Amino acid sequence: ARDWNGIEQVVLRVPRGASARVSLHGGQVISWKNERGEELLFTSSKAIFKPPKAMRGGIPICFPQFGNCGSLEQHGFARNKVWSIDDDPPTLHPNDSNGKIFVDLLLKPMEDDLNFEFRLRVSLSMDGDLTLISRIRNINGKPFSFSIAYHTYFSVSDISEVRVEGLETLDYLDNLCQRERFTEQGDAITFESEVDRIYLGAPNVVAVLDHEKKRTFVIRKGGLPDMVVWNPWEKKSKSMLDLGDDEYKQMLCVDAAAIERPITLKTGEEWTGRLEISAVPSSYCSDH
Ligand code: BG6
Repeated sequence: ARDWNGIEQVVLRVPRGASARVSLHGGQVISWKNERGEELLFTSSKAIFKPPKAMRGGIPICFPQFGNCGSLEQHGFARNKVWSIDDDPPTLHPNDSNGKIFVDLLLKPMEDDLNFEFRLRVSLSMDGDLTLISRIRNINGKPFSFSIAYHTYFSVSDISEVRVEGLETLDYLDNLCQRERFTEQGDAITFESEVDRIYLGAPNVVAVLDHEKKRTFVIRKGGLPDMVVWNPWEKKSKSMLDLGDDEYKQMLCVDAAAIERPITLKTGEEWTGRLEISAVPSSYCSDH
C-alpha cells in the first residue's frame, strides 16, 4: 500500500486477524491491531502524514539522538527519513522469525560524519505480539555514538486510570528539569500532570495497566537499559499543533531506550536492540 504522499506502507497480517502497518517514512509502525481489530497504538486525529516530520503516534524511532540535547534535530533524523525495504537482510536468530510475519527495512543515510546501516525488522507473531529488532552497524568510518528510543504511543482509555509497573524505586532523569536526577518512590506510576522522564537501568519487562479497558501492555526489551515515560498533559498538548487539546488522555508513551549512556560503535561493529510488546486482557494477568 502507499499513503497519499506516495510513500510505501507495508501491512503485516496473521491468520487470526492481528495486523500491523509500517510506513517507510521513518520506518515508523503506524498501526497495530489485535485479532478483534482494535487499534492498540495511539494516532492523533491531528497527525500530519507528510514528510519531513514524523506523524504523531505509532512508534517513531528516535535515533541517533534523543530529545534536543545534541547537535541534531529533536529526536534525531531517522524518523524523518524515507527507509527502503531490505532485500538482503542478515540471518537472525531462528526465534526472531519462526512462525512470524515480518518485514525488513533499511536506512543508509548520507550524513556527513555517519557511515552506518540501520536494519529494522518489524514482526508480528501468530498471537499478535509486535517485535522490533534494530541492528546498527558502523560500516566504515570513525567510531560514532548514538542514543535510541522506540517512542511507543500506547492507546489508553483514560490516562487517569493507567498505571505503569516495573519502574518503582528506579532513578530517573527528569526532562522537565533539565535532566535533573531523582529517585522514584515505591508505588506504581500514575498520572495527574505532565510526565517526561528517563528511567535508568529499567528491568526488561515493564507493564502498562489500563484499568478501564481491562488491558495490559507488556513491554519486553533487550539491549536497551532505559525507559522513557511521557505524557504531555493539558498545557503542553495545547502548544502542539499535531495533537488535539484533549488527546493526551488517550495516549501514553513508554519507550524502551538507550539514552543515559550512548552506544559507541567502532568500524565494523554492530549493535542489536529489541522491543517486544503484547496486549493481554488484565484478568489474564491477575489470574496467572
Ligand atoms: C518525548 C520527550 O519523549 O517526546 C518530550 O521526552 C517531547 O520532551 C516528546 O516533547 C515529543 O517529541 P516530538 O519531537 O515528537 O514532539
